[in-house]
Amino acid sequence: MEPGSDRDRVLVVDFGAQYAQLIARRVREAHVFSEIVSRDITADEVRDKAPIGIILSGGPASVYAEDAYLIDPGILRLGIPVLGICYGHQVIAHALGGEVARTGKAEFGKTDLSVQRPALLFDDLPDHQMVWMSHRDAVTAAPPGFRVTASTGDSPVAAMEDPDRGLCGVQFHPEVIHTPSGQAILTRFLTRVCGADPTWTNASIIEESVAAIRSRIGDARAICGLSGGVDSGVAAALVHRAIGERLTCVFIDHGLLRCGEAEQVEATFRANFHIDLIHVEAADRFLGALAGVSDPEQKRMIIGETFIRVFEEVAAAHRDARFLVQGTLYPDVIESGTRDAARIKSHHNVGGLPEEMAFDLVEPLRDLFKDEVRAVGEELGLPEDLVWRQPFPGPGLAVRIIGEVTRERLELLRGADAIILEEIRRAGLYREIWQAFGVLPAIRSVGVQGDERTYAYPLVVRAVTSEDAMTADWARLPYEVLERISTRIINEVAGINRVAYDISSKPPSTIEWE
Ligand code: XMP
Repeated sequence: MEPGSDRDRVLVVDFGAQYAQLIARRVREAHVFSEIVSRDITADEVRDKAPIGIILSGGPASVYAEDAYLIDPGILRLGIPVLGICYGHQVIAHALGGEVARTGKAEFGKTDLSVQRPALLFDDLPDHQMVWMSHRDAVTAAPPGFRVTASTGDSPVAAMEDPDRGLCGVQFHPEVIHTPSGQAILTRFLTRVCGADPTWTNASIIEESVAAIRSRIGDARAICGLSGGVDSGVAAALVHRAIGERLTCVFIDHGLLRCGEAEQVEATFRANFHIDLIHVEAADRFLGALAGVSDPEQKRMIIGETFIRVFEEVAAAHRDARFLVQGTLYPDVIESGTRDAARIKSHHNVGGLPEEMAFDLVEPLRDLFKDEVRAVGEELGLPEDLVWRQPFPGPGLAVRIIGEVTRERLELLRGADAIILEEIRRAGLYREIWQAFGVLPAIRSVGVQGDERTYAYPLVVRAVTSEDAMTADWARLPYEVLERISTRIINEVAGINRVAYDISSKPPSTIEWE
């Protein structure tokens, strides 16, 4: 049995819209567990998962397109409540004998919705409300057995429901913030149509997760690589709560960390958990292997490999550990396909440990989104500093020194980076910025300081806003903040005589420079 499989769950069928993850998160905000599944899921597979409800997401296609994504029609006959959203609404109409047509009147953006009662999804909500639309096709006739519960100027069937079968559809997007009653509408589907028990809370996540870890690890021992980031930190804290001293944490200092970071990670874990922590000082080894190398891919490979070797050596001394704890998150699981459970993606785990290492994986966060991991971290009493830490890449400062990584360059970058973070924090911007950091290109330019000519490195400040790192925009930092950062870096970090601000977004650039 899957851990937590006795909890109420709602399946979100992903029709390829960018909204499926958002729907899943909204359901969880209503304290009901949600799981994203592929549109290929069969009625039998749905029955095995025993959800209390199903939500069909929006999608880019037309139900009449030759390669239209439809669902196994048996899913609509399982007696499990279904809510179709946008394309999902049309899929239900199409499958059950309603009419979907290209009316020539697309609706995009805010639209006025008129509710017709009775309407389960709109109970106690206003008769007229603003909703967010994004569609070309429209349902023009509801299937037999359905009542129309809302319409707009161009969508005669903007919402419909069959309370006897628990089937509902809405043409608009309740999951986006531009639909002010959206969360209330979703909640009505979950509680009134599905009969959900809204008990998915941080406390229940922890309790369930600790029980699942205990039953999986039993009396065995586990080992966990700590990176200092929130994911591995929360994973370690959960496992520690479950198995206590049978967990050994390994923190490898590869010499590519920021100012004071290694000490901070060690102090945090020792102070908060009395955890068995092995601090491996491996800077010489990593920097030795990186000497003379300036190609970005080669640098990454060397770091990845050295990391594996060091971890293997530590693990060899802990042969009795049978489990390896990883901080894999739900978006990583969705990305790598929901079916291949234990696959390790090098980018996502600590240092890219190889699959053939003789450990079974324990991934206590594989059901959670990043904001849920942070909430769990807070509930577990982890310090704010760790819980809200901005992401930091596994290869560390090596991907922020463009050219060969040397001790001198690392020192310069560390000094500048500390100033950037200090000023961003001082301006109260740390949480709203996804990542802020410095990049040191290994070139020099001419400057003048005092009465002297300088020939020194430039420092590029990079600060981006992002939801998930897949796309990012450069942060519109106030000029005064940029000015303070620039002045301080040039005055305080000898060896840097120029500061530039990176104003490119992703795509076409990336967040890191390498
Ligand atoms: P890019 O530069 O691809 O970065 O836009 C996207 C996000 O991933 C982080 N990043 C990494 N994280 N190992 C990691 O654990 C890596 O090798 C790695 N490379 C990039 C980057 O900091 C950003 O948050």
